[in-house]
Amino acid sequence: MKKLAIIGCGGIGTYHLEHFLEYKDIELAGFCDLIPERAEEFVRKAGKGRAFTDYREMYDAVNPDMVFICIPPTCHGEIEFETIRRGIPFFVEKPLALDLDLARRIRDAAEAKGLITASGFQCRYSNIVQPTIDFLKTHEVPYVECARMGGVPGTPWWPKKSLSGGQAVEQTIHQFDIIRYVFGEPDTVFSMATRGFVKGIEGYDTDDLSSTVIRFKNGALGTISTGCYATDGACFDSKITFSAPDSRLDHYIIGKVNIYGQKPQEDDGSGLVVKGDGTLRAGGAEAVTIQDDGTAGVVCDRTFVDAVLTGDGSKIRSPYRDALRSVSFTLACNKSMETGPPVKVELD
Ligand SMILES: NC(=O)c1ccc[n+]([C@@H]2O[C@H](COP(=O)([O-])OP(=O)(O)OC[C@H]3O[C@@H](n4cnc5c(N)ncnc54)[C@H](O)[C@@H]3O)[C@@H](O)[C@H]2O)c1
Repeated sequence: MKKLAIIGCGGIGTYHLEHFLEYKDIELAGFCDLIPERAEEFVRKAGKGRAFTDYREMYDAVNPDMVFICIPPTCHGEIEFETIRRGIPFFVEKPLALDLDLARRIRDAAEAKGLITASGFQCRYSNIVQPTIDFLKTHEVPYVECARMGGVPGTPWWPKKSLSGGQAVEQTIHQFDIIRYVFGEPDTVFSMATRGFVKGIEGYDTDDLSSTVIRFKNGALGTISTGCYATDGACFDSKITFSAPDSRLDHYIIGKVNIYGQKPQEDDGSGLVVKGDGTLRAGGAEAVTIQDDGTAGVVCDRTFVDAVLTGDGSKIRSPYRDALRSVSFTLACNKSMETGPPVKVELD
């Protein structure tokens, strides 16, 4: 039986482990964390495998066939290079790294070795992605609007921008990534950020809110705003809206899509949008809704594991090379926030 290992037994490591506990065809062989109790807890939960605090020792002892790398954004580098040197296919959590040059070297080394790679963009595997792609195939969309408002996550490294990359890079990268996946590549971004609204969190030095204007390569414009100042979900209706002239689709990642403008409805005369000859009918009040089925994370992990088992990585929706493009997208926003002018997104 093929052997699986995990490096980083924190929050997202636990999420993956929950999925692996269902596997009957994979041996959960090794768990590694700098904090020994965390790795030991994984052994206890799995009911098998061994705990380590040093990934090299784990590799020597266990010789895994695949590894999930679930460590904080600034801890990447050595682990990937050693994994690649040993020829072990790897799944690595977003945002891959905060240093683009480092991530590019990892990408090139993995590709030179012909390794199967995947990343933690599980939203791509949601059942609501295909209806969104279908909508975008049949509608020309000049404008994309996205917002994600939340609070400050509890991991110790998150409040420091130098450790997390900030909210666009660490969290809202899921929305940046989905927009790339279903809609198209960005050309240029112009971002501003603000601080001073989030108070009382030790070590906090990241942006409370940022807003980005995007010019896409297909000519459309977009905006993405993301904040961590929220204390309640009432703060904002976080979603991605794809706006076509006669309809729109609201995509709530791993939630639902609402498609407006498809149901015929009575014109009650309340339309405010103006067309050449006067008012436009009030449209889009009622939506067709498709719910997420809750399996995206399970499917994402299983797709990578199956790719390793079969040697065919073609079903992986977010290999390292593609994931890196989403990292570049968000880091370009950071650069614009820091320097002022618009920034060209260097996808590769
Ligand atoms: N895909 C998603 O939706 C999603 C969700 C949450 C987090 N993440 C990503 O996962 C990564 C980890 O986040 P988290 O919330 O699990 O963080 P965490 O702090 O809860 O866990 C990270 C673990 O990695 C361990 N670690 C660090 N360096 C190590 C090393 N060299 N060897 C072994 N263990 C090491 C830490 O001790 C810690 O236990 C981040 O990049 C985050 O962005 C992805």
